[in-house]
Amino acid sequence: MPALVLLGAQWGDEGKGKATDLLGGSVDYVVRYQGGNNAGHTVVVGDQKYALHLLPSGILSPECVPVIGNGVVVDPAVLLSELGGLTERGVDTSKLLISGNAHLITPYHTTVDKVTERFLGKRKIGTTGRGIGPAYADKINRVGIRVQDLFDESILRQKVEAALDQKNQILAKLYNRRAILADQVVEELLGYADELRDYVCDTTLLLNEALDQDKVVLFEGGQGTLLDVDHGTYPFVTSSNPTAGGACTGSGVGPTRINRVIGILKAYTTRVGAGPFPTELFDEDGEKLRTIGGERGVTTGRDRRCGWFDAVIARYATRVNGLTDFFLTKLDVLTGWERIPVCVAYEIDGRRVEELPYSQTDFHHAKPVYEMLPGWTEDISRAKSFEDLPKNAQAYVKALEEMSGAPISAIGVGPGRDETIQINSFL
Ligand code: IMP
Repeated sequence: MPALVLLGAQWGDEGKGKATDLLGGSVDYVVRYQGGNNAGHTVVVGDQKYALHLLPSGILSPECVPVIGNGVVVDPAVLLSELGGLTERGVDTSKLLISGNAHLITPYHTTVDKVTERFLGKRKIGTTGRGIGPAYADKINRVGIRVQDLFDESILRQKVEAALDQKNQILAKLYNRRAILADQVVEELLGYADELRDYVCDTTLLLNEALDQDKVVLFEGGQGTLLDVDHGTYPFVTSSNPTAGGACTGSGVGPTRINRVIGILKAYTTRVGAGPFPTELFDEDGEKLRTIGGERGVTTGRDRRCGWFDAVIARYATRVNGLTDFFLTKLDVLTGWERIPVCVAYEIDGRRVEELPYSQTDFHHAKPVYEMLPGWTEDISRAKSFEDLPKNAQAYVKALEEMSGAPISAIGVGPGRDETIQINSFL
């Protein structure tokens, strides 16, 4: 019966991989419901570190069925290379299920992503360059290619030709690029069909049947709430819905079946790419957070922008996702600061604002109003219970919980699998 959604409460990179992995042993299915290989999960198992981009992190738990839902955009070359890499390291990937309705990222999507960003110049979004936006645009425009099209050559050819008729005009006339040949694309895509065939099925049916049989299904969001195309800092967002509603549309499981929505919340804030970020630090504190927190993108290798915790954003994430719990990650990174600023509200044009402003202009002008919380110096990485934490670390967690509007049910105190304090069970 339990269906849980686990998603990023900030701008992504909150440490979701660790949280998903923590639940791995008790979960029967782990489902990705949106995004593509723009995501990056780092999962540490023993002394092994795995960087996953497209595959659900459940792939590392032998008893779990990993699922790529219909809401995901799949780059087949990346998928096969990720699967190959895991097989080489002895991970069994045979249980993977892929929705036949998921859309494909083709070579022309990646090309369009890169040329569009270049064309935007100073106004660029700072995308991951993986073709995500153009693939979703084609889906919405009804000229997308779906995974199931790989198994019907004539349909595949018709669809690729239709998509390229339009795209080649734009590539040639607007961006001065050479046309992409439909035959070449079809050839490449058909080359993936046989290797993918056995993974592809009606995941919607299987997931609903699994829930009927009381299996535990975990929906794993990529990116984060503030990167949601509807609820994020548009246009500086990704092109899908990482927020909780996306778990339903991206998997074909109805909202009445979801019991719990867990927001992963980093003890400070980071962001990759362009866009507003009120608590961003440009000083040595920012550099210190980046270094200690290892804040470099798993997918792009870009340095992440770093800043203090923003409670306005956390409250917003609680609201738009209907969060039932938080998993607070990377608390250990804050060890050593004498006082830790926490943003409790914004000042916008002289007014104090407690909730995330709906106006983009206001959000761009928002200045953080900070409250100073006392820090701690003790190593917390071996803490096993909340009481093991130094008093000031306990107070920091409690303050965040109060400001954010949902209970903090787990706390990450180090990168390892066992470096987590579980306060309430998620199941
Ligand atoms: P896209 O998803 O590649 O189109 O990029 C759109 C925006 O989302 C850019 O600012 C990216 O840096 C950001 N983004 C995409 N995926 C992630 C992620 O997994 N973590 C953090 N930022 C991301």
